[in-house]
Amino acid sequence: WLGALLALLGSYLIGSIPFGVLLTRAAGAGDLRTIGSGNIGATNVLRTGRKGLAALTLLLDGGKGAVAVLIAALIAPDLAPMAAAGAFFGHCYPVWLGFRGGKGVATFLGLALALHWPCGLVFAGVWLLVALVTRTSSLAGMAAAVAAPVSAAIYREFEVVLLFLVLAIVVLWKHRANIERLLAGTEPRIGAKPPLG
Ligand code: G3P
Repeated sequence: WLGALLALLGSYLIGSIPFGVLLTRAAGAGDLRTIGSGNIGATNVLRTGRKGLAALTLLLDGGKGAVAVLIAALIAPDLAPMAAAGAFFGHCYPVWLGFRGGKGVATFLGLALALHWPCGLVFAGVWLLVALVTRTSSLAGMAAAVAAPVSAAIYREFEVVLLFLVLAIVVLWKHRANIERLLAGTEPRIGAKPPLG
């Protein structure tokens, strides 16, 4: 259990690095938490008008999920799902930001690719498809998250089905303000600026 605890804690620390906030601040573009939706993810970085910065945030937020899983897979493969959970919760509830973190989509993608790449590809495919059709990042993220446990079940990756199910529920919970805006018809398209919330 000590190994599991270390995997969880170590990955939590990796996942808790708020790249969106750090990059936006370093670029002199202000505090991301006071911009757009106030979220710390790549979608909101895009609202600063800096596409490169948004792409880098997506890469690093996804990368930290993948790196946490890959480190665990090298040391103790059984602990890879635990490491995935740690990185995800680190991103969504980082101690450095008073546990007010991101919505988990990019980190979910990265950890899914590292845990079982076909599931990661399904995640990316669903995100892209829904984003192309609706031009709405939150909807794409939620659809991809819900598709993840389904794809894990289809690929008979039963040990990650439960993990992905829990992560998908957290993704939905984190998007509650987006869901309200979607229902009210006020959710902005990708790149447009929503009210804070
Ligand atoms: O990945 C986050 C995205 O799904 C929603 O972000 O800033 O539009 O709330 P945002």
